[in-house]
Amino acid sequence: MNTPNLETALKHASGLIDQKLGEFLVVPDAPEGRVIEAMKYTLMGGGKRLRAFLCIQTAKLFNVEEAHYARVATAIECAHSYSLVHDDLPAMDDDDMRRGRPSLHKAFDEATAILAGDALLTFAFEIMADKQTHPRKAVRLDLISGFSKALGARGMVGGQMFDLMSPGLALDAGALTRLQKMKTGALIEYSVDAGCIMGQVPDSIRSALTAYAHDIGLAFQIADDLLDVEACQDDIGKTPGKDEASGKVTFVSLLGLNRAKDQARILVEQAIGHLENFGSEADALREAAHYVIIRGH
Ligand code: IPE
Ligand code: IPE
Ligand code: MG
Ligand code: MG
Ligand code: MG
Repeated sequence: MNTPNLETALKHASGLIDQKLGEFLVVPDAPEGRVIEAMKYTLMGGGKRLRAFLCIQTAKLFNVEEAHYARVATAIECAHSYSLVHDDLPAMDDDDMRRGRPSLHKAFDEATAILAGDALLTFAFEIMADKQTHPRKAVRLDLISGFSKALGARGMVGGQMFDLMSPGLALDAGALTRLQKMKTGALIEYSVDAGCIMGQVPDSIRSALTAYAHDIGLAFQIADDLLDVEACQDDIGKTPGKDEASGKVTFVSLLGLNRAKDQARILVEQAIGHLENFGSEADALREAAHYVIIRGH
């Protein structure tokens, strides 16, 4: 598949995030330097920067300044990294590999991984709340409010709780959709919504874009569940077969491989349909919708 817009845009997102993190994460020569070292380890670990990309590309549709969206996208990637660090802990998925390297608690230790996760989350809010993120207080408040909801007990954290409980629950497709929307969808949807908030766009445009993000968020988690079954460790950089081994309910366990793939394809088409009122400026977002289900890691 030829995806020139997407490749350029993903590189642009990664470059911006690396540059911002380089500015932000200075390791002091003091005992607390260890936690910042651990934050750097996970943040510079080769993630796809998909959430940053979504935020940046949405913001660009509305001519938001780079100085603003670069900070918001970096905050989102910090929160995403925190979620992965805690997700890998022995008390959660107990995963020793992440992005092709030892997980943070393996490279450092459990206590450091817990603290680095905590610090990544709080740092994300510190970035969002800073005046440099947006001159208008109302915009900063909207950014922070949406961010808290996406990450909290009714969003990602709630989804993680639900996911951990799923082996003991008889979930149907509706309940599983709710789980995935919270666990993964909420932050992906917020990444796009943050671009709309910075762009101060009308509600009709905002809801079309968040509907797009809603659909790719679900498709993204279905693809993650498929990779857990079908891919090898070298490709995904994390331990395959984890979901089945822990008895997690996923779209693959519930629907089987073929129907899970069909479902992901339907969601991608639906997502692209929500972008019908945009021209070529939204091509990278369209390509991203395809990419979330054909990606190899
Ligand atoms: C992994 O997210 C966790 C899920 C929500 C499935 P990504 O696949 O986006 O992780 P990185 O940041 O690219 O490593
Ligand atoms: C985790 O989902 C999603 C998060 C909110 C961190 P998974 O447990 O499926 O993610 P991976 O497969 O470990 O990346
Ligand atoms: Mg998990
Ligand atoms: Mg996991
Ligand atoms: Mg997974």
